[in-house]
Amino acid sequence: SKKKQLIAGNWKMNGGLAANEALIGALRQGVGQPVCDVAVCVPAPYLAQVQVLTQGSPIALGAQDVSAHAQGAFTGEQSVSMLKDFGVGYAIVGHSERRQYHGETDEVVAAKAGAALAGGITPIVCVGETLAEREAGKTEEVVRRQLAAVIHTNGHCISEIVVAYEPVWAIGTGKTATPEEAQAVHAVLRAQLQHAAGDAAARVRILYGGSMNAANAASLLAQPDIDGGLIGGASLKAPDFLQIIAAAR
Ligand code: G3H
Repeated sequence: SKKKQLIAGNWKMNGGLAANEALIGALRQGVGQPVCDVAVCVPAPYLAQVQVLTQGSPIALGAQDVSAHAQGAFTGEQSVSMLKDFGVGYAIVGHSERRQYHGETDEVVAAKAGAALAGGITPIVCVGETLAEREAGKTEEVVRRQLAAVIHTNGHCISEIVVAYEPVWAIGTGKTATPEEAQAVHAVLRAQLQHAAGDAAARVRILYGGSMNAANAASLLAQPDIDGGLIGGASLKAPDFLQIIAAAR
């Protein structure tokens, strides 16, 4: 298909004023005019800083989470409109770390995706199985359940989301899914989207995440249903992130 791939960095809870400036500076220097879309999802306190640092560059700004609520008594959360005040175009929702450490259910993730869609931010909806689930042969069932909640809640808007398949056992472990393993799950997700959205499903970008790096990016990104990457550790090192961007189409 002709859609651009998306290479999104997820800094997680890393960075600082000086480190961010150095990292974005190096990315701007090396990125040129990428053929793919590029984004960095930064910790909320640094959105304002990175908005300025990325101005006039091809690097889009993303958040790592977003509230399902518009405003009010939700201590610690950030709304879609607050993120939009700082030029945020993407928000990760349902990252496995939020599901695991913050108890986010499929329903919460679906509501967050819905709030983002309604407010004009593209949600990057994360799905993925744990090692125990994979070993029990439940991979397909788990990712289909996670995506179904988002499809059910967001109906006809579903072609506007980005999906990220992140096998939990591959996150930060150095263990990557093989391109074939990843492609197999991506094909399942694509078929599920097709069932919900018809031809529009072809437009949805399905990213792979989990120990993607400069060495393995090209073979993953060459798979027919892998439309980009959600990169954690390697997105903190400019040369590595730039090599992943260069491997994308
Ligand atoms: O959101 C990014 C993923 O959790 C992957 O992280 O590249 O450090 O394995 P990682």
